[in-house]
Amino acid sequence: MCGIFGYAGKKDAGSVIIEGLKRLEYRGYDSWGVALASKDGIEVIKKVGAIGDFEELEKLPFSNIGIGHTRWATHGGVSNVNAHPHFSADKSFVVAQNGIVENYQELKNTLITKNHKFITETDTEVIVRLIEEKLKSTDNLFDAIKKAFVDLKGRNTIIILPTSGKEVYAVRNGSPLVIGIAQGEIFIASDTLSFGNHTNRVIYLNNYEMIAYKTENEQLDIYNVNNGNKISYQESLIEQDNVDIEIQGHDHYMIKEIFEQKDTIRNAVQYSIEELHDLIEAINKSNHVYTVGAGTAGFAAGQIAYYLRKIAKINVTELKSYDIDSYKEIFCDKDLIIAVSQSGETADTIEALEIAKNKGVKIASIVNMQGSTITRISDYQFLSRSGPEICVASTKAFTAQISWGFLLAMSLVGKHDDAVNEIYRISEMLENYFRSKKFFKSEKVFKEIAKNFANKEHFFVLGKGQNYYIALEGALKIKEITYKHFEGFSAGELKHGVIALIEKETPVIAIISDDEYKEDMLSAVAQVKARGAFVVGISDQDNQLFNTFIPSCKSDYIDSLTKIIPFQLISYYLGIQLGNSPDKPRNLAKSVTVK
Ligand code: M6R
Repeated sequence: MCGIFGYAGKKDAGSVIIEGLKRLEYRGYDSWGVALASKDGIEVIKKVGAIGDFEELEKLPFSNIGIGHTRWATHGGVSNVNAHPHFSADKSFVVAQNGIVENYQELKNTLITKNHKFITETDTEVIVRLIEEKLKSTDNLFDAIKKAFVDLKGRNTIIILPTSGKEVYAVRNGSPLVIGIAQGEIFIASDTLSFGNHTNRVIYLNNYEMIAYKTENEQLDIYNVNNGNKISYQESLIEQDNVDIEIQGHDHYMIKEIFEQKDTIRNAVQYSIEELHDLIEAINKSNHVYTVGAGTAGFAAGQIAYYLRKIAKINVTELKSYDIDSYKEIFCDKDLIIAVSQSGETADTIEALEIAKNKGVKIASIVNMQGSTITRISDYQFLSRSGPEICVASTKAFTAQISWGFLLAMSLVGKHDDAVNEIYRISEMLENYFRSKKFFKSEKVFKEIAKNFANKEHFFVLGKGQNYYIALEGALKIKEITYKHFEGFSAGELKHGVIALIEKETPVIAIISDDEYKEDMLSAVAQVKARGAFVVGISDQDNQLFNTFIPSCKSDYIDSLTKIIPFQLISYYLGIQLGNSPDKPRNLAKSVTVK
């Protein structure tokens, strides 16, 4: 969702900001804007659509300080006027925001009674007018921002550039904000990836912390916005291998990231038994273990809970982070939550963790984005180390997270090395698969399936046991990129209602592992087949019941891991067949930082 990028330093701020905004593109946006301060005041450019090499960019003045924003519309349509940054009425400052001002209507009504005029439909403009209102009783912009910020409800992060071009301010609450430091330069942004090509020195901000940066003496100060006290801060270093966002000759990030899984599943299990020790001890001591996440990460949380129950025989409950209502009552200080997230910034998940933390629950997390909020609020932090995942639809983060969950479950029963060996074995199989002619053969199959599926609207995916969450995630993956109705079910659910939907030629994808549920799955396939379904089987063995067979790699321990990959490929090829954009599906944002 919205991205913020501010820069002050010796370089041409316009180019640095545009480059930074491009590195934030993956979060999802529908419009964008840049504001640059120079001796002639602030120049703003705002556009709907993708950041391109517009002529207007050339016309922007040379400047050493500016702010930029990518907007994912929440309040007010997608338009130039609603895009950020927003000017104050007297053009003395501009503001960009990430988040939602939950009390914006109430504030707007009060501000209207005080004669403030509104020209946009955004909640952001309320912040601008509120700062103007506060400036009536102080001529100090810093104080006015502080006073205005504490009146806002909701998760909001803002950045403010005054016309003087001598300072820049930013305040964080909920929505992410990090600072990058280099010699004579500062970057203020929504994530470290956006400036990771300039510096690896970062400062992480906590909620209600405010940055004031003065260009004259390159002075950075951080304050607590509630009491105005100065805060001492520390620099950290980010891992530089995690900042490369080159597409490396692929047509889309999605296919690049699907191929990368042969490596990323290995990276995710680079934790020794010593490094897992504290978490293992916490799990063993805890009263109850929960896993939590949303969307794909929610399905990964479900799969991790499955491994912990099935392999380690631990009583684990999977929760959806946006739906923990009844659990609020029973969380206690002997519980442990394992949070799963790619971005580490998902508002629903952060809120669930905050609620649990207040009840004394210990937090562990497996997150892909280093330095993110979820990592920083966790007692036990683990990184999935998949590298930047740019495609909005999550692929490599999912398989990395479940590989880590498998490692954890196996380590709990003394089989750490077996888990690592198995993930390495699968990684090798995937490497051979993607490299060999076999893949090109199956690429044909995927393209064929895409052609067959292009004219259909409703599809069903069946799995059971270790493949239940794979069916749900497989269906979500295809929905996201193809906009078609794919629904995942447990094969056990079929006779209890779902079978009513099956008619002649209804496409059904069945995931069949060589495990205790193989016979159940084949019976389910026979039942849909008897009603005319067109069956695609994902399995390590062909079967006469399948109309189309997609072979998948076999693993005795973690077969489910390899079963998701065909869904990612169907999603990709069907999306392309339909003319959709695989990397930027409609309406979706990569990092869902608002509720
Ligand atoms: O960053 P997170 O993993 O916490 O994000 C959670 C979901 O928003 C995310 O998994 C979403 O469902 C993806 N678009 C799935 O492809």
